[in-house]
Amino acid sequence: MAFILAAAGSAVGLGNVWKFPYIAGEHGGGAFVLVYLACVAGIGLPVLAAEILLGRRGGGSPIHSFATLAAREGHSPRWSAIGWLGVLCAFLILSFYSVVAGWALSYLWYAVSGQIAAPGDGSLDVAEAMSGLFAGLLASPAALIAGHTLVMALTMAIVAKGIRGGLERALRWMVPGLFVLLIALVVYAAATTGTFLAAARFLFQPDFAALSWEAVLVALGHAFFTLSVGMTAMMAYGSFLSRDVPIARASVTIAGLDTLVALLAGLAIFPIVFAQGLEPGAGPGLIFVTLPISFAQIPGGAAVAVLFFLFLAIAALSSTMSILEPVVEYLEQRGGWTRRRATVLLGSAIWTLGLGCALAFNVGADFTLFGMNLFDAFDYLTSNIMLPLGGMLIALYAGHVLSRDALAEELGPLPAYVFRSFRFLLRYVAPIGIGVVLIYSLMF
Ligand code: TRP
Repeated sequence: MAFILAAAGSAVGLGNVWKFPYIAGEHGGGAFVLVYLACVAGIGLPVLAAEILLGRRGGGSPIHSFATLAAREGHSPRWSAIGWLGVLCAFLILSFYSVVAGWALSYLWYAVSGQIAAPGDGSLDVAEAMSGLFAGLLASPAALIAGHTLVMALTMAIVAKGIRGGLERALRWMVPGLFVLLIALVVYAAATTGTFLAAARFLFQPDFAALSWEAVLVALGHAFFTLSVGMTAMMAYGSFLSRDVPIARASVTIAGLDTLVALLAGLAIFPIVFAQGLEPGAGPGLIFVTLPISFAQIPGGAAVAVLFFLFLAIAALSSTMSILEPVVEYLEQRGGWTRRRATVLLGSAIWTLGLGCALAFNVGADFTLFGMNLFDAFDYLTSNIMLPLGGMLIALYAGHVLSRDALAEELGPLPAYVFRSFRFLLRYVAPIGIGVVLIYSLMF
């Protein structure tokens, strides 16, 4: 698959459309968004480029590449531990991500079957009806498990059978399609709600007094999550990248596109939140409650809803496959395992773990880990701890283990000061920045 398309497909996903708006809402908007943007540009982007170039230079599965590159530069092969951290992280991320992707499939079904519509009997308002629809989904173990199962089955089919050609064709029109649709939703929200300015102010006017260390950690963690970096998924894609692609340019394109999608999603959602008097910090259900309110009211909204949730589902699948891929690659390359067998085994294990995340919304709500239900705990542990930790190690590796010449060669031609700043970000800014945020947020 064309590298940029695959990498952008991995980066753009539920993180942008589902997670970004809801965590921005929970952490007060403006200042949080600014910190997130700074983390993407100053830490996420360099680590993204580092992952891609380490993947290309190593040429094998991430675990294998860390070991060979380190040996080549005279360092310990134990650096491959970063790859193992990535494997563990992939298990945890996919198990909760798949549940949310299942919500997108459920909503695709609701849209097709006409359940996203203004109630005809006048007994309830649209906002209440759409909140009810989401609450009903969360309360049903069967519906959640069905969605999660379908997502894992599709992901396994894509990874095992190499039906990537099909996914690539879908991505070619889905990425621009999602863009156009989001812009249309932003315009619609701006034209009809009268709360567009309030939403823009909420998202972009920083109030640093309200910013906690916890919020900074969440912003940093999300910068990794949304770019798909910190668990070596981009390394796996980088291993297929041809030598003539300049990695610095490619990384900027991917990060720019990803950020734009997230900001558009925010601008489409928050005007509705304010117009309907909903709570910005309502949590993970935010987009599944707000956007359907628009769809129920837009002329031709049913068709828009079908398209939107279809695109969201495809965006989610191009992300789920990128989470499973590096792990499968590793088992396959170690020998003795066919791709098919590795996919089925790992996919089933993740599916089982995901059952716990699905049930966290209903019958398993009382089961807690670190004071959170299983879904929230997996999300917190991966986004806020494991990805930053992985990112820190990858930055240290690319900045200190890999030689300066190797780094320069992989990045492609850059003005000297750009290269120097890039290497400085990797060697010092990213590791120290991540370390400080981790320590402070866990202490205070
Ligand atoms: N970036 C994707 C999103 O925003 C999720 C994702 C895909 C991911 N691959 C990843 C997150 C690897 C962390 C690591 O939806």
